[in-house]
Amino acid sequence: MNGKNKSFRVGFASYFNANHAFSFWKARVALYALFKTIGVGPGDEIILPGYTCVMDVNPIKYVGAKPIYVDIEPDTFNMNVELLEEKITPNTKVILAQHTYGYVCDIEKIIEIAEKNNIAVIEDCCLSLGSKYKGRLAGTFGKAAYFSFQWNKPFTTGLGGMAITNDSELADKIKRLCEEQIIQPSFKEKAMLSAQLAVYRTFIYPRTTALAQSLFRWLTKKGIVVGSSATCEFEPVMMDDFFKGMSYVQSKSGIGQLRKLEQNINHRKEMAALYDTLLSEKGWRVREYDTQAMDPVMVRYPVRITEKEKALEQAASAGVELGSWFECPLHPIETPMTVYDYEMGMCPEAEKAAKEVVNLPLHPRANKKTAKRTVEFITKYTQAK
Ligand SMILES: Cc1ncc(COP(=O)(O)O)c(C=O)c1O
Repeated sequence: MNGKNKSFRVGFASYFNANHAFSFWKARVALYALFKTIGVGPGDEIILPGYTCVMDVNPIKYVGAKPIYVDIEPDTFNMNVELLEEKITPNTKVILAQHTYGYVCDIEKIIEIAEKNNIAVIEDCCLSLGSKYKGRLAGTFGKAAYFSFQWNKPFTTGLGGMAITNDSELADKIKRLCEEQIIQPSFKEKAMLSAQLAVYRTFIYPRTTALAQSLFRWLTKKGIVVGSSATCEFEPVMMDDFFKGMSYVQSKSGIGQLRKLEQNINHRKEMAALYDTLLSEKGWRVREYDTQAMDPVMVRYPVRITEKEKALEQAASAGVELGSWFECPLHPIETPMTVYDYEMGMCPEAEKAAKEVVNLPLHPRANKKTAKRTVEFITKYTQAK
């Protein structure tokens, strides 16, 4: 633990008015710590949307529990709460309430159902830093919440994760678990991460992102950069050095990012509103969500198109930054999804979204010109209904 780390945790907790914050090497490690301390184990079931990152599912498998997938509703890509109750069994231990792309899920209803059935709710805020529901920040509804600072998240420390909670008993358990078991990133990992952060800052611009991304993927496979996920993380087997804490370089970067958070949020909101305007001028259907209740801070702006693969290919060569997550219900899995208990057909809306959705940049380096270019590009394709 270092001074920077404490300042980052304290600053992050205070943004949420949370009593406790714990920092980790990645968000998936934070989720694992939450499962361990909530007491999730073999035979337990964890309910989550079938439109997620497989790195959310790994910790479920690591503790011996079973993921149970709920389909999404098509406008906000969040768990369809109408389908939630039928998935609950006496073994359900946790509902993972993921706020997708920045849209807040139907968190009040989820909490109501969870309380009725004595189930814990963990909020996945990896894509929704700063989003609000009825004036309250996403991440302050459940027993705990966790966040990612990986490079394409709302803000980045290269890699990184944080868990927050107001539950003192849970916080004591996380503190003890970390004291007993957490390991520090190696010197090599820290050095590589510092270099990566410098490269991100220098090279990641809307016109170069696709190129940089392919390069990073290649370098990760070769073990030259730390990467968001090692190849072995595409299988549900926990690595010996998985349970890692946050390094000095991540904490230092996090403090800087926190200072710019309001600016970052305002930028994202302005950019999303600009996409709404530009897309609707072209006759495209734009974001649809409950504007009375929700005040989303989008991490990316999702749109549905009919020729996703072709658009991604052409965007890369045209220097247009198009994101493609989630590419499948458990993004970006390379192994068969059945090892994660997902059978094709389980979540039809999620599977449809995975085939259709591309996402447009909103990050601090995207500007009005980026939005115009991106909309010009994307509206050459056909919007999927
Ligand atoms: C919704 C969601 N949850 C969790 C994670 C895991 O975050 P991390 O890469 O920091 O472990 C991701 C990663 O991309 C994600 O998209």
